[in-house]
Order: sequence, then C-alpha cells, then structure tokens
Amino acid sequence: MNQWLDERLHLSRLNDKFLRKAFPVHHSFFLGEITLFSLVILILTGILLALSYEPSNTLVINSFDPGTSDKPNLVPAAYHSALKINAMPFGDMLRRIHHWCANIMVAAAVIHMMRIYFTGAFKKPREINWWIGLLLLIFSALTAVTGYILPYDNYAYQTLGVVYAITKSVPWVGDWLAQAAFAGAFPGEQVIPRIYGYHIMLLPMILVATTGAHMLLMIKQKHTQPQYAKRVAYKKIVGVPLSTQQTPIMLLLALLFAGLVILFSAFIPVHPVEYFGPPSATPIANIKPDWYLLWVFGALAIIPGFSFTLLGGTITAEFVGAMVFPAIPIGLLFLVPLLDRSKDNMYYAENPTNHPVRLAAGVAFMVFMLVLSLAGYKPELIASGTLTTGNANAVLWIMTFLLPALSYFLTMAIVRGIRTLREADERERLAHGGHGGAAPGHSHD
Ligand code: HEM
Repeated sequence: MNQWLDERLHLSRLNDKFLRKAFPVHHSFFLGEITLFSLVILILTGILLALSYEPSNTLVINSFDPGTSDKPNLVPAAYHSALKINAMPFGDMLRRIHHWCANIMVAAAVIHMMRIYFTGAFKKPREINWWIGLLLLIFSALTAVTGYILPYDNYAYQTLGVVYAITKSVPWVGDWLAQAAFAGAFPGEQVIPRIYGYHIMLLPMILVATTGAHMLLMIKQKHTQPQYAKRVAYKKIVGVPLSTQQTPIMLLLALLFAGLVILFSAFIPVHPVEYFGPPSATPIANIKPDWYLLWVFGALAIIPGFSFTLLGGTITAEFVGAMVFPAIPIGLLFLVPLLDRSKDNMYYAENPTNHPVRLAAGVAFMVFMLVLSLAGYKPELIASGTLTTGNANAVLWIMTFLLPALSYFLTMAIVRGIRTLREADERERLAHGGHGGAAPGHSHD
C-alpha cells in the first residue's frame, strides 16, 4: 500500500521534508498546539451551528411565544434561530462548546505569546512569526466579537451599538466607515448578514491562512529548544519526529483537550439569550465586552470627556479612548523584536531571569493591562463604595501607571535576589569541589 501510494504521490519526499521534523518535548510547547486545537474545534462546531442559524434581522413570529393574532410577538430571525438551536438536542451544548473554545483560543494564544516573550523566542530569526502571531491574536479577538453579535439578543444589539459608535467616532471618515462596515446606518436591515459574512467567511479565511503561514515558518525556522536540549546534544535539534512519535502525542492531547472542553461546557452555560430577550431600546446596565477587550473598555471608561475640531474633523474622547490609546500597547507588542537588543536566539529558549529588563518590562505590561481591565469595572467600584464619582478617574489613572512601575522595580529586585542566591550556591558548590551541571548566570542560555 505504501509503495502503491508512493509511486503515485511521492509521499516519501514529503516524509523527508516535513514528517521527520523533530518536535521538542516540553509542556510549554503545547500552548501553541492548544490554540490550534481550539481553532479546529471552533471551525467544526461553527459549521454545525451554521446549518441551523439564520443570518437575518428580518422580524419573524417567535414560535416559542407567538403572542396574539392582533399583537404577534415579532423577533429578529437570527435571535429566533438561536432560541431554536438551544431547543434542539445537543444544540445548547454545541453553542456552549463553540463559545468556550473561542475564549480558550484567545487565552491560550495569550499564554503562548507570554512563553514566546519571556523565553526570547521572538528574536532573530523568528521576528516575522512574532508579527504573524500578533495578527492571529487580533483576528481571533475580532472573530470572537463578531460571533457575539450573531444571536442578536438585546446584549448583542447594545454591544453592536457601542461598536458602531466607536467606528463612527473616527474623525473625517467615521460616518462613511461605520456605514460601510455595518451595511448602513445602525441598525441597518443588512447588519446581521454583513456580520455573518465577516464571522464565517472573511475572518476564518484570514485566520486559517495566517495560521498556515505561522506553521510553515515555524517548520522552516525550527523551534527554539528547551534548556535540556543543550546538555543532550549542543546545537542539535533534540526532540521526537512528527511521524510517528509526535503525531500520536498531539492526537492524545487534542482528544484530552476536546474532552475537557466538552466536560466544562456541560456544566457552565453561556450567556443566556432568552434572559436578555430580543433587541430593545432599553439599555443594559454596565454592559461589558469579553475579558480580552475589557482593557479597551477600561481606557474608554476613565478618559475624561472632550471633543475638538481639527482640520474639519472632530476628535472625541471616544476615538482617543477606544482607538488611539489602545494602539499604543498593541504597537509596543509589534515593536518587541526591534526593542530587544540582546543577542540573537537561533537555538535555545532563554531563562527569563537572565534577561531581567525584558522580564520586568513584560510583568509591568501585564499589570498595566490588568489595571486597565479593572478600570472597566468603574461603575461597580463606585457602586460598592470603593471609589467615588469624584475620585474614580484620577485614582484609576494613577494606578494604571504607578502599579506597572512598581511591579517593574519589584521584579528587578526579585531577579537580583534569585541571581545572587544562584551565584552563592555555585560558589559553595565549587568550594566543595563540585563540578559539571549548569553554570551560573549568563552561561545558562
Ligand atoms: C492565535 C493563534 C496561534 C496559533 C494557532 C499558534 C500556533 C503555534 C504553534 C502550534 C507553534 C509551535 C508550538 C509552540 O511553540 O508552542 C507556534 C510557535 C510560535 N508562535 Fe504561535 N500561535 C498563535 C499565536 C501566536 C502569537 C499571539 C504569537 C506572538 C505574538 C506567536 C508567536 C510564535 C512564535 C515566535 C513561535 C515559534 C516559537 C519557538 O520557536 O519557540 N504565536 N505557534
């Protein structure tokens, strides 16, 4: 059989080129794979959901609560189809798996990115894959946001109103941009078909193409190697080949992951569309985006209101808070491979404590994002009495810059402590005639 296929498809050449690629065996390298498995589950469950979802905001009679012949209960077809999917056998479960996988994909991508950052895996020659990875993260978040709108319950409707207003706030071209993006003035007749197109065609195509490029580059440039590889065979690729060892490991992990997601989804319901009801003029108090966009929402919450005209365009607090300000941390992430001036990293994952400035800057960045996300809860912080309307913005702005600065210096101090202890250990070992093993300080990577 093998020979039969080989004579026709020349598979052995493929085998030499790709399937013998060695994969490092280390748990941190599974993070990218978990992101990949989430994408596969999202596509599979998405295809099944698309079979029953109706991408239309045309009003139809709600078959679960039809009203009377004088006063029929009309709801958007998209909302109605979400209720119908919930009522189907395993329909609710399908929605839950799809929803939780979207969250897990973004979370796994963020943790994967942290691994890449803290171990210096973004350095030459892997800068391009860092940039591709960032695009993947941005497009994953956009895909998730468009997915949230599709059930078109009141929560989705109100969120869409906020997204539309933010798009409209772009000076000079905002009106045109918002109408072009959302198929007319909000809430246009075609808004759901348009967002559906983004969610099931445009964005997944971009995600799949970008993931393909990410994987090809990773295969071409090879993984960074965990530290143990240095001791096993210096500057050689240490790991198990894709065929046959790595494939069953990945398959097992994929099955285990799918099992855990299904178990999780069985117990934790998603956002209940029937509770929020169909779109209405009644605003929902303290509406929030998902956790990974909460930091943008926080920036928007604490920016003081202003508006001024510049060259005929109106610059508003909404535009600065939701677009200009968030572009700064995103821009910094893109600049990471250019800002890190330490020597190239062809082979080995670096020990984070040997790069204290990078480690401390990374911790400060994470604290900055967390504090801004906390600022997204400003109304709740005021309602609970933790802050007052008068001081909330000032306190949250101070925390946004003060806490990252403190965490930077704290991390530097801790790393200094760890390195002093490590060097003292080493001195003691040498004094007692010890030898071999890893050398202290920089020689670790
Ligand atoms: C969102 C979807 C993403 C998927 C599906 C994905 C998938 C993967 C996989 C499977 C690997 C190989 C295993 C590993 O090293 O963990 C990998 C490596 C890599 N990824 Fe991603 N990734 C994603 C996002 C990102 C992000 C957000 C970044 C950084 C900004 C990034 C940067 C990299 C780099 C530089 C490598 C090579 C690492 C090395 O050689 O050690 N990826 N990715």
